[in-house]
Amino acid sequence: AYRADDDYDYLFKVVLIGDSGVGKSNLLSRFTKNEFSLESKSTIGVEFATRSIRVDDKVVKAQIWDTAGQERCDGFRCRALSTAYAFYLYVCLFDWLIYNTITGSPNLAELSRYRAITSAYYRGAVGALLVYDVTRHVTFENVERWLKELRDHTDSNIVIMLVGNKADLRHLRAVSTEDAQSFAERENTVFMETSALESLNVENAFTEVLTQIY
Ligand code: GTP
Ligand code: MG
Repeated sequence: AYRADDDYDYLFKVVLIGDSGVGKSNLLSRFTKNEFSLESKSTIGVEFATRSIRVDDKVVKAQIWDTAGQERCDGFRCRALSTAYAFYLYVCLFDWLIYNTITGSPNLAELSRYRAITSAYYRGAVGALLVYDVTRHVTFENVERWLKELRDHTDSNIVIMLVGNKADLRHLRAVSTEDAQSFAERENTVFMETSALESLNVENAFTEVLTQIY
């Protein structure tokens, strides 16, 4: 039967999260446009792209959201900001003028902007790819924080896939497949290693998440 190009049976929102530089934007462009860039810049604000795949006899359209890893501030930075805010209010009562002259005012705009962006980013998401870089161990350590943020902001039955990207850099590997695999099992998430550069498993990772949601 004839179907229009933009016709679909299901629309799923999927978010990309993980530290800055792990390759989220390149995974997205590889999956949606089959493009890769060695010199991509850090994402500014929020971007999204779509692609439809077929699952059984249904067309599933994925709307994939991407943002900069460093902007999705971790619990620590948020706590720091909240503390600064509380402290600020306290000092306000005490001596607003003197405090301001000495320290400059805390960044209240940043705090509320962070809160607004975070909840909008996660709202309605039914799937997530939590990406780390297999050559930078710290990005794997931070996965726990990302999981917490994700679970704080999304429905409990969201499908989460842990993605170890840059698997092509074999000689630089810093996180073993086994460690990541067992972490993923403990956290009840699916796991896959990918390379946006070599097109390894990118298709599989997205398709697996979409199939599980469906
Ligand atoms: P933010 O937007 O800052 O959060 O970063 P990001 O996670 O979107 O990373 P991005 O996709 O911009 O990639 C960062 C760098 O890693 C770029 O130089 C990419 O070319 C490189 N890169 C991404 N994926 C791979 C990969 O699979 N293999 C290799 N070797 N390099 C990659
Ligand atoms: Mg990016």
